[in-house]
Amino acid sequence: MHSIMKLCGLLALVGIAHGQAAELNLAKGKTLTDQNCIRCHGSEVYTRENRRVTSLPGLHKQVRRCEQMLGLTWFDDDIKNVAGHLNHQYYKFSPK
Ligand code: HEC
Repeated sequence: MHSIMKLCGLLALVGIAHGQAAELNLAKGKTLTDQNCIRCHGSEVYTRENRRVTSLPGLHKQVRRCEQMLGLTWFDDDIKNVAGHLNHQYYKFSPK
C-alpha cells in the first residue's frame, strides 16, 4: 500500500515535469522577439505573400538561423518560445 502511494506520487511528479517542459511560454517568446528581432525586418516578413517558412519545423529552423546571425546563442527553449509566439501570432501552423 505504502509503496504504491509512493509510486503514484512519483508518476504525478514526472507528469508535471514533462508538462512544463512541453509548454510554450508565448509571452517570453514575444519579449525575446521584440527585443532582438526587429533590427533587420519587422513582422511584415512573417505575413508577406510567398513567405519562405511553410511549416512549423521550418519555422524553428528559420528562427535558429536568424538567431545565429545575431550571435545570441539562445537555448532550445528560447527558440521554441519565439517560434511558438510567431506561429501563434502570424503563421498559424497546426502544432502537429
Ligand atoms: C541580421 C539580420 C536579421 C535579424 C537580426 C533577424 N533576421 Fe530574420 N530574417 C533575416 C533575413 C535576411 C530574412 C530573409 C528575408 C528574405 O528572404 O527576404 C529573415 C527571415 C526571417 C523569417 C522568415 C520569414 C518568412 O519568409 O517566412 C523568420 C521567421 C525570421 N526571419 C525570424 C527572425 C527572428 C525570430 C529573429 C530574432 C531572433 C530575426 N529573424 C532576426 C534577417 C534577420
